[in-house]
Amino acid sequence: MKKIRTYNNIATVGLNKFPANHYEVDAACETPDAILLRSHKLHNEVLPSSVLAIARAGAGVNNIPVSDYTPKGIVVFNTPGANANAVKELVLTSLLLGSRGITQSMDYVATLASETDAAELNKKVEAGKKQYGGTELIGKTLGVVGLGAIGAKVANMAISLGMKVIGYDPALSVEAAWQLSSQVSRAENLNSLLARSDYVTLHVPAIKPTIGMMNEDAFSAAKDGMVLINLARGELVDEAAVISALDSGKLGAHLSDFPSEGLINHGKSTLFPHLGASTVEAEENCAVMGANQLIDFLDNGNIVNSVNFPAVAMERTTGYRLTFANDNIPKVLGTILNLLADLNINVLDMVNKSRDDIAYTIVDIEQEPTPALLEKLSSVEHVFHVRRV
Ligand SMILES: NC(=O)c1ccc[n+]([C@@H]2O[C@H](COP(=O)([O-])OP(=O)(O)OC[C@H]3O[C@@H](n4cnc5c(N)ncnc54)[C@H](O)[C@@H]3O)[C@@H](O)[C@H]2O)c1
Repeated sequence: MKKIRTYNNIATVGLNKFPANHYEVDAACETPDAILLRSHKLHNEVLPSSVLAIARAGAGVNNIPVSDYTPKGIVVFNTPGANANAVKELVLTSLLLGSRGITQSMDYVATLASETDAAELNKKVEAGKKQYGGTELIGKTLGVVGLGAIGAKVANMAISLGMKVIGYDPALSVEAAWQLSSQVSRAENLNSLLARSDYVTLHVPAIKPTIGMMNEDAFSAAKDGMVLINLARGELVDEAAVISALDSGKLGAHLSDFPSEGLINHGKSTLFPHLGASTVEAEENCAVMGANQLIDFLDNGNIVNSVNFPAVAMERTTGYRLTFANDNIPKVLGTILNLLADLNINVLDMVNKSRDDIAYTIVDIEQEPTPALLEKLSSVEHVFHVRRV
């Protein structure tokens, strides 16, 4: 029986993916092979030595000390794109809230609650609406910063709304480029996107080059009255610069999933309580994807959507499967293959991939590996994890 420890409320549809005949799923499991979690923080926890993998049902992995786990051979997965549609739909909501005085007009209607005379109420409704007129999205320009799983969906949606779309992503992946409408035009740099966009939406991770990217300099390059939507991460935006841009009119509105003290009471800032991925469908998609990735790793050694290991997958042959992880330096793979050859062990199939400082190999061999063989492989210099799958 393989054992999975869960934290947080993982959608049942995901938990049901673990075949009951060879998986035990239990929040209190003491010697888990893998962990499936959402936002539970692992930084201050001692991880049982049995753990081989951790799957985060979601995109960010800030709650997992990934760099501590990599040298131990623990593979950390996330579920990129599983919540992309949920965020895309909240961007649509934000575009509409940012272009029409919707929330303000609702607040106005709430002030009419005590009006009991229908004719008088109607008069006040008609008189009030003049303050809340807006503009349409059609024909306006949306700048999309980051064209990954979410950004690409947002860009395509905006094209279908009749908007012009400019994208900026210096590290656009081939896979993401394939998803993108050919009508999305490319900005060479952030400032050129800001100068041309009526609306700007951020879809980048919070990493060194992006933290504080929306700062005073960025706002001075922006088109007057621009609407900024940030459903990615709070750290991307310099709060003081946003407040000053809202006050000066440089920013027409700010909509964000990350409330902060200074913005909560600002009339031109609309804040959501981190709602981006909070849909039933997104939680289910993340749980299913996380569970499937763990099953494929535990049962086959395959790695898909890891944040610390390379993507490696191989169809099973009739042989016995081994996997090993090592420092990404020359000769380690050769040493292992020589070792197998010296023991007259035939290799049926093999795949080896590297990522940054580490390499990972799946190898199918003709005969059942003995504990002595596993021991020998583990003792090869620079090999830090060996597993019989
Ligand atoms: N509000 C929420 O609940 C919620 C939900 C899901 C994701 N998110 C956030 O949204 C972000 C995007 O998610 P995703 O699934 O699209 O991620 P993703 O990894 O698919 O895409 C991120 C994109 O940003 C690009 N990028 C990196 N640095 C850049 C830079 N300096 N300038 C421009 N582009 C840059 C990358 O090349 C990549 O294409 C996540 O990192 C996460 O922080 C928030």
